[in-house]
Amino acid sequence: MTLKNKKIILGITGGIAAYKCAELVRRLKERGADVRVVMTNGAKQFITPLTMQAVSGNPIGDSLLDPSAEAAMGHIELAKWADLVLIAPATVNVIAAINAGLANDLLTTLCLATSAPIAIAPAMNQQMYRASVTQQNLASLELRDIRIWGPGSGEQACGDVGLGRMLEPMQLVELVEQHFVPPQPKFKILITAGPTREAIDPVRYISNHSSGKMGYALAKAAHKLGGQVTLISGPVSLATPDNVERIDVVSAQQMHQAALSKAPEVDIFIGCAAVADYRPATISDQKIKKNDDDMVITMIKNPDILADISTSASARRPFCVGFAAETQDVEIYARGKLQRKKLDLIAANNVAIAGQGFNSDQNALTLYWENGQLDLPLADKEQLATTLMLEILNHFHKKS
Ligand code: PMT
Repeated sequence: MTLKNKKIILGITGGIAAYKCAELVRRLKERGADVRVVMTNGAKQFITPLTMQAVSGNPIGDSLLDPSAEAAMGHIELAKWADLVLIAPATVNVIAAINAGLANDLLTTLCLATSAPIAIAPAMNQQMYRASVTQQNLASLELRDIRIWGPGSGEQACGDVGLGRMLEPMQLVELVEQHFVPPQPKFKILITAGPTREAIDPVRYISNHSSGKMGYALAKAAHKLGGQVTLISGPVSLATPDNVERIDVVSAQQMHQAALSKAPEVDIFIGCAAVADYRPATISDQKIKKNDDDMVITMIKNPDILADISTSASARRPFCVGFAAETQDVEIYARGKLQRKKLDLIAANNVAIAGQGFNSDQNALTLYWENGQLDLPLADKEQLATTLMLEILNHFHKKS
């Protein structure tokens, strides 16, 4: 009952995703939330007030000028009642109206009259979402501390493909849970991120496509959830998240040395870096000349940072979480790494799927542990990182 006694106003506006709101309300109520639904006229074209009344167990608010509704719970009373106002789906119209400070129906009036946090789950055609005025409206709402949850990406009701889908009900429920999460006990965490570069000569190296986005998002999420974060980063072009200690390294050996020296000081270690498994056996002092038609580079194995920390006999071994970047048989390989490296958890991503994994803004993961697994569906890396961090903390606290 993670949402026990939480009072949530769900504002539904006129988008096709409104039909998912019955499921959303059921899942919120399952977790103990008290949900009151406010519908715009547009919303009622997509899902009936009767359905929403039945699933929420409360009368629906749909009019600012309805004396009987006002007599039951007036709009100011309703605005004061809420712990959270969630607008899902939020059309481009309601986003613009809230940004402009309009109060031309019950929902927009509530947004002005409430002191509760407001979250919106945008849902619209991908082109409308990308329109500069929509982006400006969203940025301006964010500046006013309104949470923007989503949108997700994929096929749209209109046939287009892209960003603009309302997040799935369970993703929204998780975000609501995170919003209400009680402050976590403090913890220290070490995260590796980005690629490593293995030098061949002074001007050439072997590396991979890791951008560092996943690891940096984890560092940000860990800090948000109360972590004292150290981030060991390969070469990336990302800004250091606020309040995170960053140690820059280049090669796997440097990352190994930095990680092993920090690991005994932390409670949790996450290996998110794409560490090169091999490095050239020798690094030429001078730039290698193009003398022959072919060239052979002998490679030798790099130390395995994650395995060395996880299998350490030290009493200060941290809770160890690995990543598995796979292109096939994801579960088999991920579980193999979980066992072989003696990890507590492993987050596997299928990096053969376009638009997720290496160097993209989104990812999807499956978290595996000895007796279980959990799918974390495709989402922006920042959002996914928060969900993953909450799962990691759950497992960590259960173990300690
Ligand atoms: O950086 P992004 O562009 O955001 O992309 C994110 C990501 C795809 C890099 C990330 O989600 C990811 O999957 N990271 C792990 C990549 C990887 O190297 O996976 P692996 O299956 O080869 O390694 C398994 C685990 O062992 C990883 O936790 C890795 O950090 C660790 N390892 C591997 C080799 C080594 N020598 N030392 C290690 O610690």
